[in-house]
Amino acid sequence: MSVNASHPLSRCGALLMTAIMSGLVCAAPGPVLPFFDATTLPAVAAGSEPNPYRNHEARARIVEVGRTVYNQSCAVCHGADATRMGPAPSLRAVGRFCLRITETSLKSRCVADADHYFYKSVMEGKVKLGVTHMPAWRDVLSSEAVWAVRTFLEAPPPAEQKP
Ligand code: HEC
Repeated sequence: MSVNASHPLSRCGALLMTAIMSGLVCAAPGPVLPFFDATTLPAVAAGSEPNPYRNHEARARIVEVGRTVYNQSCAVCHGADATRMGPAPSLRAVGRFCLRITETSLKSRCVADADHYFYKSVMEGKVKLGVTHMPAWRDVLSSEAVWAVRTFLEAPPPAEQKP
């Protein structure tokens, strides 16, 4: 895997400021490779869904790795620690409504659907009417990294930055 040393803000900062001022989203600058120790994430088989880390014994560590990946690759558009406003939607909301479902099998189907939507959105990106709203991450992030980000987003927001 190639190493990309540029900071997300250096690639997107100017665009982001323009985006915030004009109310538009940050025009997709291309995916930014995060720096993290990939060996800290337990291997998961390709196509593992729903989120294989949700009830993992190493969940606390996975949340921290997910936070690291998120803040390097996603925060520039989706907001620092997913607690601050960004030009793109908050990712903590994805699947949150499932938690209100009381019937167990319906709830797990809802969560599985949300996981699938999350994973697919990230890997394939968001292109609408020929405009790239979010780049595809499939050549940049491993499945492990994507699920770690999802696990981070489901954890309570970092205490020091609760909105
Ligand atoms: C260049 C800006 C940008 C970056 C960087 C970015 N996103 Fe996005 N993302 C967007 C925009 C804009 C949307 C909304 C697009 C739409 O719905 O058409 C979006 C949508 C999503 C969605 C769907 C959300 C929903 O509520 O439907 C997910 C999931 C997502 N992004 C995850 C990620 C993750 C994880 C990362 C980091 C690995 C990331 N994004 C990095 C701009 C970005």
